Amino acid sequence: MASTMLSLPCTSSSASLSMHQLNKGKVKLGSSDSSICINNDRNSPFTKIKSFGRISMTVATNVSRFEGVTMAPPDPILGVSEAFKADTHEMKLNLGVGAYRTEELQPYVLKVVKKAENLMLERGENKEYLPIEGLAAFNKVTAELLFGTDNPVIQKQRVATVQGLSGTGSLRLAAALIERYFPGAKVLISSPTWGNHKNIFNDARVPWSEYRYYDPKTVGLDFEGMIADIKAAPEGSFVLLHGCAHNPTGIDPTPEQWKQIADVIQEKNHIPFFDVAYQGFASGSLDEDAASVRLFAARGIELLVAQSYSKNLGLYSERIGAMNIVCSSADAAARVKSQLKRIARPMYSNPPIHGARIVANVVGDPGLFSEWKAEMEMMAGRIKNVRQKLFDSLSAKDKSGKDWSFILKQIGMFSFTGLNKAQSDNMTNKWHVYMTKDGRISLAGLSLAKCEYLADAIFDSYHNVS
Ligand SMILES: Cc1ncc(COP(=O)(O)O)c(C=O)c1O
Repeated sequence: MASTMLSLPCTSSSASLSMHQLNKGKVKLGSSDSSICINNDRNSPFTKIKSFGRISMTVATNVSRFEGVTMAPPDPILGVSEAFKADTHEMKLNLGVGAYRTEELQPYVLKVVKKAENLMLERGENKEYLPIEGLAAFNKVTAELLFGTDNPVIQKQRVATVQGLSGTGSLRLAAALIERYFPGAKVLISSPTWGNHKNIFNDARVPWSEYRYYDPKTVGLDFEGMIADIKAAPEGSFVLLHGCAHNPTGIDPTPEQWKQIADVIQEKNHIPFFDVAYQGFASGSLDEDAASVRLFAARGIELLVAQSYSKNLGLYSERIGAMNIVCSSADAAARVKSQLKRIARPMYSNPPIHGARIVANVVGDPGLFSEWKAEMEMMAGRIKNVRQKLFDSLSAKDKSGKDWSFILKQIGMFSFTGLNKAQSDNMTNKWHVYMTKDGRISLAGLSLAKCEYLADAIFDSYHNVS
């Protein structure tokens, strides 16, 4: 019901009352020659109004207190899945969201996850609150998985690790820390980047700007632009880097380029902030995919790393990840950790236990750990196969001389097709291929059987839509 004031002009008197009063039920007003009885029946869409004598009144009813709240636009990534669901075409393909699918295009729960969950059931573990920083066994294994067990940053307890609400929640925690302890410091974000990065820093009121990353001419890395922009940023900026399998482009720097990026970051006293959402999923090797982070850590640079287990363990809805902050001393790490906890407490109090236990069981048990690696290789392998098949199909179809080899050079779940918005719209409207409007397709949602169809759609959109 409305929060508007109800005004009652009448010849001999005027009165007004708020909907708060009306909400209390029956309100009776009296004037010298009239009375008004208002029965505010909550089950009725309209407030019933009786009027007597010469009193007239207009009541705006059914006006929400949230009238000033405007409709938010659909999320550019998750909104794609909604549109996909509503489409009934038999060839429809959802290449929007980055979630692994089987060759039959079904969601996949890893076998090791099921085994870990069975173990948890057998042990009859309780559901008590976790500490603010999360499950100790999880925090231990997640940092070790990232940096390597023997890494001096681990040995010297220089890493502040707290369990986060997956990658997103972990990024958001660190963004809050930046806002609190580095006021005015800017975060440099690659152009383009994962759609949620800007939201996260906007919401945390952390200023950001972009550095060049993607070169549309080569559909590759604009390395010179990237270095120049990082160099030009104010000293002490945070530089957000995708640890592996850059989203959305699938284009990563080479090991030699990573060294040069580290050089310029050190030279400018910047603070690297890694987002690692695909460890093990990019190359199939957990160590190889952590090489960029380890390179920076080996140089003794203080850095931040957000981790996610959504993709590599398929724990999308468990919201399990971590924020790791490597500090120059154990003492600094302890202080930083205490502040991360302080930020987490009023936001969500403490994180959920289920996913943390799964990760702790899988990573902490040598048998399950090797099974996980095998499954991850299988998933990464399936994506590589569809990548190859898509390239083969496109190359066979396209006699125009267009070079599609960039598809093979990109890694991870995604391919950045280079299709513009109009072409991406054509993919959806004409071909029922759902994808983000920046031209990104998730190969994890593609089967070998549908590569040919997708190649037709891309070929048509690229050549027939400008
Ligand atoms: C680059 C990047 N960072 C972080 C995330 C966070 O995902 P989640 O919050 O599900 O762990 C994603 C997911 O797509 C991503 O692509």
